[in-house]
Amino acid sequence: MPKGDGTPGHMAKFIGAQLFGNAPKPTTSFAGQTIIITGSNTGLGFEAAKHVVGLGCAKLIMAVRSIEKGEAAKDSIIKATRCDPKAIEVWAMDLSSYDSVKAFAARADRELERIDVLLENAAVASVEWNWVLDNERMVTVNVVATFLLAFLLLPKLKATASRFRTMPRLTFVTSDTHFLVDFAEKDAPEGIFARLNDEAKSRPTRSERYPTTKLMQVFVVREMAARLLQSQSAGGADNTKPLPPVIINCTNPGLCKSELARELDGLQVRAAKFLLARTAEEGSRNLIAGAVGGVDTHGQYLDMGKVTTPATVVVGRGGAEAQKRLYVELVEKLEKIAPGVVSNL
Ligand SMILES: NC(=O)c1ccc[n+]([C@@H]2O[C@H](COP(=O)([O-])OP(=O)(O)OC[C@H]3O[C@@H](n4cnc5c(N)ncnc54)[C@H](OP(=O)(O)O)[C@@H]3O)[C@@H](O)[C@H]2O)c1
Repeated sequence: MPKGDGTPGHMAKFIGAQLFGNAPKPTTSFAGQTIIITGSNTGLGFEAAKHVVGLGCAKLIMAVRSIEKGEAAKDSIIKATRCDPKAIEVWAMDLSSYDSVKAFAARADRELERIDVLLENAAVASVEWNWVLDNERMVTVNVVATFLLAFLLLPKLKATASRFRTMPRLTFVTSDTHFLVDFAEKDAPEGIFARLNDEAKSRPTRSERYPTTKLMQVFVVREMAARLLQSQSAGGADNTKPLPPVIINCTNPGLCKSELARELDGLQVRAAKFLLARTAEEGSRNLIAGAVGGVDTHGQYLDMGKVTTPATVVVGRGGAEAQKRLYVELVEKLEKIAPGVVSNL
């Protein structure tokens, strides 16, 4: 039995998209904008950084875990785009440390006048079991710390919206691999995170962990976006449809050549990459599509630059319940890490 939507028909569609589809080359100006891209020293984040600088952003903050790698990447971007070197800053941020995420967010709040785009791109993929802080590593890095950063920076994004009369974007880089899992953890009586953090019970589905964390991102984006809109309509006096102060969306770059598979470069992965993968630049166009997405992208999953229906596990039977359950568990965790942070939504 295929897992998730992984039928032959789905796989044929995936191959077609890899070979013949993609988001268009970005052209929208970022003039005057301040943009944060996590994990921008390499891969898709690096290529997205080149795009936003080439399209005139006023300030790019490269949020990286190695300042040395970040500075080398910054030099390459300056060479490639001939931008003003002062337009790019390299700041330390390690998603394996909640203190580091908090320190980064506090600095951004203190030092940045505005944040127009927070592009949450950094992630890890592995089939190994590793423990980081209070969870299995991919759960901590790709989900808990990633959304901690989002919640911590929401006040600045909202303040940018009202001060400059703009609609900042909060974009997460997810993956179409989320179509390939069943997310059995959603029904675990002990709780979703408790099941994900149970090494013995996770052993048979270890290869599903990375796609599962990408699925969790899709769920949380949908729930955050819906709640943000609800809070807007609660405050509204008239009957007009509320607009989100911040557009929250997620985007799929497709299979791309990057360093992501460094911990899982088996023969199958290498063959698929050789035959089907986009270049990192091609994949990064999808990141930019999220970062310029309109109100119609709020809460949505983008593929090839367009709003697309996510996996059946998200939109099918039981999806709404799984989404709420996951969100409630996640915010409980976030409140322990940074009390009060969830009210930022
Ligand atoms: N490549 C694909 O085929 C593909 C497909 C679908 C979705 N995606 C998604 O695209 C995004 C970018 O991936 P990529 O392909 O460009 O991978 P990549 O080349 O491995 O880049 C990942 C970036 O994340 C950073 N990172 C990893 N762990 C971190 C941590 N603990 N704290 C801070 N930064 C950390 C890495 O920093 P270091 O360089 O220091 O390790 C690197 O800058 C990811 O969200 C991934 O899930 C990729």
